[in-house]
Amino acid sequence: MKKFYVTTPIYYVNDKPHIGHAYTTIAADVIARYYKIKLDEKRVFFLTGTDEHGAKIAEAAGMNNKSPEKFCDELIPKFKLAWNNLNIDYDYFIRTTNKKHIKFVKNILRKIYENGDIYKDTYSGYYCVGCEKYLIKADLVNGRCKLHPNKKPIKQKEENYFFKLSKYQTKLLKALDKGEYQILPKSRHNEVYNKIKKGLDDVSLSRQEVTWGIPVPWDKKQTIYVWFDALLNYYSGPQIYSKTPPKDTQWFPADVHLMAKDILWFHGVIWPAMLLSAGLPLPKTIFAHGYFTINGQKMSKSLGNVIDPNKLVEKYGADAVRHYLLSAFPFGVDGNVSIKDLEEKYNNELANGLGNLVSRVSHLCEKYDIQVQEKQEVLEKCLQIKPGVIWKEIENYKFDRAIKNIFQIVNSANSYVEKTKPWEIAKTDPKKLEIILKDLVVCIRQIAFFLKPIMPKTADIIDKEFSKTKLRKVRPLFIKIKD
Ligand code: MSP
Repeated sequence: MKKFYVTTPIYYVNDKPHIGHAYTTIAADVIARYYKIKLDEKRVFFLTGTDEHGAKIAEAAGMNNKSPEKFCDELIPKFKLAWNNLNIDYDYFIRTTNKKHIKFVKNILRKIYENGDIYKDTYSGYYCVGCEKYLIKADLVNGRCKLHPNKKPIKQKEENYFFKLSKYQTKLLKALDKGEYQILPKSRHNEVYNKIKKGLDDVSLSRQEVTWGIPVPWDKKQTIYVWFDALLNYYSGPQIYSKTPPKDTQWFPADVHLMAKDILWFHGVIWPAMLLSAGLPLPKTIFAHGYFTINGQKMSKSLGNVIDPNKLVEKYGADAVRHYLLSAFPFGVDGNVSIKDLEEKYNNELANGLGNLVSRVSHLCEKYDIQVQEKQEVLEKCLQIKPGVIWKEIENYKFDRAIKNIFQIVNSANSYVEKTKPWEIAKTDPKKLEIILKDLVVCIRQIAFFLKPIMPKTADIIDKEFSKTKLRKVRPLFIKIKD
């Protein structure tokens, strides 16, 4: 593998980011950090950003009595702040209002047009501004969009340009069969594959009523449908940003697009069809993770249960939030999160588990003046789990398992301390004491290495403290939360 290019969806800027956005972004950061270790910093490109055009944003801006431009400009720092607080090390933050992006979108659209894949027709149906899409029968429950029951779908009849998605049915199935691109997890692949097999309807790619968007290059009365504009960020982003790819490769196409299942159809079907039409290469993997609820409820403003990631970071620290969200349930299935669970995990795994191990071992080393060389061999006692297993789990997006395995090592190291009782051995057998503590130090160094992509700040602190030859007691990494 010569390079790794990973993306998150570009989020709508109709409001500040919430914990759902943070979930995908943290996962992408773990993947990017992992490959930066494996391949080299220079060979990884991590793109995130914001989706700023369309009716949804225009509506939100209007409600705030602001122009969409001003409204977006004011919200962007909130996204950047949240990612900064969560220690997200993205390479480039793309905004779809970026002039260069707009140029790329127009060029690709023209290419698709010239290839004969765009025609004009009348659309008549219901549009959901929340989803930014025309609704089909399966999307409706009691005449309302399943995902946005509070928003009345808008009945519309307008002239639109259409993209011949139907033309790509066989090509997409073949590409999936041959593994030219893959949709993960397998269950999602099956869903999408079977849906494509049933037949594809052409999709509207322009809007007549919406003015906040990129004008269709050959018809200024229409704007480009926000999803066509947004998906192309994955193409424009790496070209706008100056991080040059290694000489022997190029960034595009992506190695993985991460998102939740809500927008898999756009990524797994419409996006590859657009690429085929424009003569561009397909991404390698499209991974759709699950959707999560908060205390068993859908997150929504009206329920007042929207969690601000900044508040969590402020209270528990970035690493605890990263650790909790990725370990709460497997990446790929739906799950539930709650503050109670977070605090339980925090106390058990971070404060009592890792924090305790680090502070007691460093304290014992200081007390008995144990000196450990930088390159001390790892003894197998603490490491029943082979490093390769944990790295493979991260490569396969099994973050919960990787975390479980790392914390199993933490637990066995703690048990080793309890079983061997170094403070008692110190009285009778200083040689043995030295062996035990050196063993533990090496084990902790290894734990820190595994934690690098997942809990980078904690890993750095442990790394710094435990690479010293003369160790000092490390201040508590996680303060226990009391009821
Ligand atoms: N703007 C489009 C994406 C365009 S990408 C070319 C969009 N934006 S969004 O702001 O609605 O973000 C949707 C994404 O946010 C989901 O796919 C997922 O990555 C993340 N999530 C939002 N809420 C979530 C949960 N409750 N659970 C899991 N992921 C969540 O769609």
